[in-house]
This record gives sequence, structure tokens and C-alpha cells, in this order.
Amino acid sequence: MNYEKYMKICIQLAKQAEGEVSPNPLVGCVILDKDGNQISTGFHKKYGENHAERDALLKLKNGEENEGTLIVNLEPCSHYGKTPPCADLIIERGIKKVVIGMRDVNPIVAGNGIKKLKDAGIEVIEDVLSDECKKLNEIFIKNMTKNLPFIAIKTATTLDGKIATSSGSSKWITSEKSRKEVKNIRKRYDAILTTSSTILADNPTMEHKKKIILDRKLKTNLESKIYKSGEIYLFNESLDMFEGGINFIKTPSNQEKLDLEFVIKKAWQLGIKSILIEAGGHLNGEAIKCADKIYHFIAPKITCDNSSLSCFDSKKINSISESKNFVFSSIEMFEPDILLTYYPC
Ligand SMILES: NC(=O)c1ccc[n+]([C@@H]2O[C@H](COP(=O)([O-])OP(=O)(O)OC[C@H]3O[C@@H](n4cnc5c(N)ncnc54)[C@H](OP(=O)(O)O)[C@@H]3O)[C@@H](O)[C@H]2O)c1
Repeated sequence: MNYEKYMKICIQLAKQAEGEVSPNPLVGCVILDKDGNQISTGFHKKYGENHAERDALLKLKNGEENEGTLIVNLEPCSHYGKTPPCADLIIERGIKKVVIGMRDVNPIVAGNGIKKLKDAGIEVIEDVLSDECKKLNEIFIKNMTKNLPFIAIKTATTLDGKIATSSGSSKWITSEKSRKEVKNIRKRYDAILTTSSTILADNPTMEHKKKIILDRKLKTNLESKIYKSGEIYLFNESLDMFEGGINFIKTPSNQEKLDLEFVIKKAWQLGIKSILIEAGGHLNGEAIKCADKIYHFIAPKITCDNSSLSCFDSKKINSISESKNFVFSSIEMFEPDILLTYYPC
């Protein structure tokens, strides 16, 4: 049986809920009858709503799933959360085989769902397309294993790695198609993060439900477009209060550079599970040390401007061996640009 084909369907189903399920994982499910025919699909659509297995099983009313196979990208849960355990429903419905992409890293589940199924006499096949399943839930895995938000950086550069000319001109480096894709990427993250310098240079809107702004000296005008929508968390050295719809968060004032770890830990305490950084080279150069993933749009342009701003710009190094290393994950075309996605080694 080609379970990989069905696991791919699970992943596609799960992706439909990107941005809707945090802090839960993305999960999709396919059910086959005892002859191997696909009879139902489901996915976890919103935080607090039915899990994927329940969604797929509850669509079946006539017992056609009896002795069938259930395929799901994450181990079925075994505990009472916002909904009852999926493992119990799978057993109740007479499923004979369960195919899983990856074990749950949530310590409350971790292996217990599988044990419950096996104890009930169900055959369990594990690790089908496990790398793809882990990538799908990279945010959830970081949250559960490190108790920290997942940090991604998005940057848009010329072929020579520039984000603005020496005179500050930065619009537009990439195409409308690329910029549309940025909006899709943003949806995957709980919050976006930007800086005083970027707001002063570009006055961007950056539509998003939660926005983290780093502005130690409160240099930005609170009438700037970015403040017009979303929940705002403004990290600064003077104020610690909620005022005019803005959460002012006081940062230590004795530092040469703001400690990003402070910001990340504070964001976690505020319930933010993932952050997309959209800033210039100075912040990116610092943030790259703690980034989990980079989305790098590249336009087929070369500035040849030797004093223009680079996308990662924080320090001088002497040897290439001091560079930070990455692995490429994908290349996509957003004509005429490309989007390179990469991860730290
Ligand atoms: N193409 C792109 O993808 C893209 C995206 C965004 C911006 N841009 C361009 O980038 C340019 C601005 O870039 P930039 O490099 O000058 O500024 P930046 O990296 O956006 O911001 C630097 C500022 O961030 C704050 N910051 C807080 N913690 C920091 C830390 N640990 N390390 C470094 N900075 C920290 C500081 O401001 P405070 O001291 O005020 O807190 C610092 O001055 C603009 O021209 C904009 O158009 C391009």
C-alpha cells in the first residue's frame, strides 16, 4: 500500500489551517475502508475545534470505516484537552490500522497515543514521510521541545545581497508576486517583528494580528501606518504600560544593543509561539544567531553600490570559517524573483 501518497494528502489538508491553529499543531487525516478505498478526509481547522482524526471520522455515519486504515501526520492524542482523546474514538470506530507521520513531541502525548492504539490490538505504522511531517510542524516542535517561539527571518534582496541603496532607496526590490507571497508567509506566524529604523525609512503597514516593534528611544511616530492595526508590543527603554491601544514593554537600558533573547522570552510569556522578523540588515545580522528559518527573496538585480545596505550586517569577521552555515531547503520561482528557504545547520 502506498501510504506516502495519503500522507501527502494529510499534509496538504493540514496546511489549509496555517495561521489558524496556534498553539496546536497542523494535522490532516485520510481514512481508507477495508478494501483500501479513500472514504473520508479531515483536518484540524481552528484552535479549540475538532482534531483531524475526529473531523474525518465524524463524517462517516454508516460504519464503513470498520476494519479500515486511518492515516494521520501526527500521533493521535491520548488525553482530554479541548476535545476528548482521538485514540479512543479510533478504537471505538473499529479502525484496524493507523499510519502515522511522526510521534507527538508534546510530553502529555509522546508515545501514549500509539500505546493506547496498540493495546487495543490496532496495527501502527510509524514514520511515513517523517521529515515532511516534521517540517510541517516545525513551529509546534520548537515550542514543545524548547519552550520558546519559532523565529523566522524574511528578507528581500538584490543578487548582490542588498536591501537598500546608500541613499536609502528600497522600493521595490522584489516583484508584486513576491510581495504577495510575503503576505502568505506572514499568516503562518503569530507575530511579525520590525524596528524603528525600518519604520522610519519605509513607513510600512505590515498587516498582521500581532506586531512587535523594537524602538528603544521611541523615535517612531505613533501615527505611522504600522500602528494603525493589530495588537502592538512596543519594546522601549522608558515605558511599561498599556496606553492608546499599545503595549509598551520596558527593556533594560544599560545595553549597547537590545538583547534579542529578552524580546524572545518576553514574547513567549505573552503567548506568542512564532515570530517573523521583517527588518533591515542590522537587526537581521543579530537575529540570524537565533533564527530557526530564513525566507530569502532574491530579485535578478545587481546594485554594484559598494556602500548600500546588506541583508545580514552586524560585525566584521576575518575568515570565511567564521561564517554561519545553512542548508538550503527549497527554491521557488515568483517571477522574476526566486525564494530561497534555508535553515541553520
Ligand atoms: N528588503 C528587505 O527585506 C527589507 C526589510 C526591512 C527593511 N529594509 C530596509 O532596511 C533599511 C533599514 O535597515 P537597518 O539595517 O538600517 O535597520 P534595521 O536592521 O531594520 O534596524 C536596526 C535597529 O533595530 C533596533 N535593534 C534592536 N535590537 C537590535 C539588535 N540587537 N541589533 C541591532 N539592531 C537592533 C535598533 O533600533 P533602536 O535602537 O531604535 O531600538 C537598531 O537601530 C531600510 O532602508 C529599509 O528600507 C529592507
